Amino acid sequence: MNIVVLGPGAVGSLWAYKLNLAGHNVSVYSSQNLPNLSLELDEQPALSFVNQSIELLTKADVLLVTVKAWQVEAAIEPLIKHIDERCIVVFMHNGMGAVDTVAPLLDRNPLVLATTTHGAYKPSREKVLHTGHGNTLLGGYNSKGSRCDFLAEVFNHALANCQWTENINLALWNKLAINCAINPLTAIEQCRNGDLAKEHYQEKLNQIIDEVCQVMRAEKVPITREQLEETVTQVIKATAENYSSMHQDVFYQRKTEIDFITGYLLVSAKRHNISAPTNQALYDNIKTIENSWTQS
Ligand SMILES: NC(=O)c1ccc[n+]([C@@H]2O[C@H](COP(=O)([O-])OP(=O)(O)OC[C@H]3O[C@@H](n4cnc5c(N)ncnc54)[C@H](OP(=O)(O)O)[C@@H]3O)[C@@H](O)[C@H]2O)c1
Repeated sequence: MNIVVLGPGAVGSLWAYKLNLAGHNVSVYSSQNLPNLSLELDEQPALSFVNQSIELLTKADVLLVTVKAWQVEAAIEPLIKHIDERCIVVFMHNGMGAVDTVAPLLDRNPLVLATTTHGAYKPSREKVLHTGHGNTLLGGYNSKGSRCDFLAEVFNHALANCQWTENINLALWNKLAINCAINPLTAIEQCRNGDLAKEHYQEKLNQIIDEVCQVMRAEKVPITREQLEETVTQVIKATAENYSSMHQDVFYQRKTEIDFITGYLLVSAKRHNISAPTNQALYDNIKTIENSWTQS
């Protein structure tokens, strides 16, 4: 297949390399004005990818969008006129809501949402490290996208384990719930995920989970309070040594994805008249931190 990866950062570079190894014609679309991008994955040899080719974008069967949630609109908008209506556009990022903004501009295209637990890190522009093996779920956003279940096999062949789900919304809400519980708190406290297992974080975690669970149930996501608490506890344990992405964004003073994680939750809470003071306070705290960088 002809595949273009828009936003070859950590996740995008991992997929670009793996899809290329699987035999696809892969090019990238990065924010840098370079004709080619050379990429090494772990200890494997460098591969060269054509960058920013409008011609290849026009011919793309799949456009894989791997920019961060808050970058989606600005990244895709200038390219829309070059995207063929048969091109499947796959969005792979944390958080929810970003695709709702751009979907009306791509209403003729099959749109697919993806969520991944693979870990990737880019120590330099030309090197990507696959830091943790995980799973990827794909599912349709619109009716044309819902007919693209074959794509899970294409992605799985490149980087297992990848599966298709008929209810990507459920997977995204579950991921959002975990992110709401772990990301802002670890970012504010500048601690590892595992530190949240300590006694003095339990009250706050319980309040976050209570509010998230109420919103998920109002959104008709079938989940119980006990299930959500168990999932969050498991993820904290399994990723105890990790720093969350929001922790790292705050540490390096980079804009976070809070608007598409806790921010998305709060919009939904408001729509359902659910009070979410603990999540609101975490949201406000992260925004205050972000604003302090622009003012200094
Ligand atoms: N890294 C992980 O292990 C991991 C795991 C699971 C999920 N995720 C999620 O996956 C998403 C991507 O994460 P990431 O770690 O790969 O982030 P990242 O390394 O920052 O990658 C995003 C890339 O998009 C590029 N970009 C931004 N705006 C662009 C534009 N207008 N045109 C072209 N390229 C543009 C950025 O380039 P510049 O830096 O030059 O702007 C950057 O290379 C996030 O939602 C993240 O939460 C990440």
